[in-house]
Amino acid sequence: MRIYLDHNATTPVDRVAADAMMRALEHLFGNASSVHYYGQQAKAAIDDARSAVAALIGAEPAEVIFTSGGTEADNFAIRGAAEALEVTGRRHLITSGIEHEAVLNTFKALAKRGWRTTVLPLDATGLVAPDRLRGVMTDDTALVSIMHANNEIGTIQPIGELAAIAHAHGALFHTDAVQSAGKIPVNVRTLGVDLLALSGHKFYGPKGIGALWVKRGVRLSPFLSGGKQERNRRAGTENVPGAVGMGVAAGLAMQKMPGEAARLSALRDRLENGILSSVPNTEVNGARDARVPNTTNISFDRIEAESLLIALDLEGVAVSTGSACSSGTLEPSHVLKAMSLSSHRAQNSIRFSLGASNTEEQIDRVIEILPRIVAKLRSLSAVGSR
Ligand SMILES: Cc1ncc(COP(=O)(O)O)c(C=O)c1O
Repeated sequence: MRIYLDHNATTPVDRVAADAMMRALEHLFGNASSVHYYGQQAKAAIDDARSAVAALIGAEPAEVIFTSGGTEADNFAIRGAAEALEVTGRRHLITSGIEHEAVLNTFKALAKRGWRTTVLPLDATGLVAPDRLRGVMTDDTALVSIMHANNEIGTIQPIGELAAIAHAHGALFHTDAVQSAGKIPVNVRTLGVDLLALSGHKFYGPKGIGALWVKRGVRLSPFLSGGKQERNRRAGTENVPGAVGMGVAAGLAMQKMPGEAARLSALRDRLENGILSSVPNTEVNGARDARVPNTTNISFDRIEAESLLIALDLEGVAVSTGSACSSGTLEPSHVLKAMSLSSHRAQNSIRFSLGASNTEEQIDRVIEILPRIVAKLRSLSAVGSR
């Protein structure tokens, strides 16, 4: 039995979305900018997809710009807003230490170009404290970018409150909703944000397509030069099959969300409680109440997360660690480090992210095999350290 517990990395494309994409590949080959029948068919398909993506986040279709994915949407939001606001003299940008690299590395790039950047630390809950944000806001802050749900620990930030703080200082607010859209209700108006990033492959759509929602009236400098596609904001011939797939997946996510969220949170809790009670010296990372329903991140004391990942993979179970391997040494997860957890804990933690294919039987299988695997790895590391 193969068990996929890495849905935050990516999800398989839903069959219905894949079929729609196949039809688009075969029949909707026209260039959506062409005035003839073929172009108009392609344009109509993109418009339908735009409406479906807009509906998923409670937005107007005209505010949705298709991009090549979540990374581009985050880059576009941050670079585009920073550049558009440069003339106002606002040169300060704020984010949090638990953001995805798409945001953190964009901040680093802008810092090199003279922008003043603040990266907020967090406590062990993994939540940004509104007072911390309030404390670093200045009148030259141009943009605050805080993610909605975190990819490693699943915590959901109090975006409404944080956005209100940014607005009180005249700054824009961007949120990376790549890990929340399709999992929990996301509504741009309720959140009160100005910019919101999405990615198709995190909710059973294809890879290589995403979207940026830009509130009407918010000015962004485009960062691709070229044609007038996407209302002059994102040049390049549109990815029709990608948009179609993302649109169908968005519609399906909306339909399935209430039932699927309840099912997954029950499975996730079963997994989490099963592990905590059957494997000694384990702890959940981050707040357990404010989380997306499919994610848990667990620290296994005296274990190298990478060894556990490989041992689980050999048993047919796919999970992930937040740590990155750079030049042969294991870098602890930047998310867990930003939460002030010890570097040991940041290196012994595993993310389990559940999704459509998971069943109770699969979860019970993981709970059954884990105690044995962990005990074996711990005994090996005890021998190794003698
Ligand atoms: C929170 C978050 N933001 C952005 C991205 C990047 O999205 P994409 O893979 O579509 O570029 C990811 C994907 O891992 C993510 O988890």
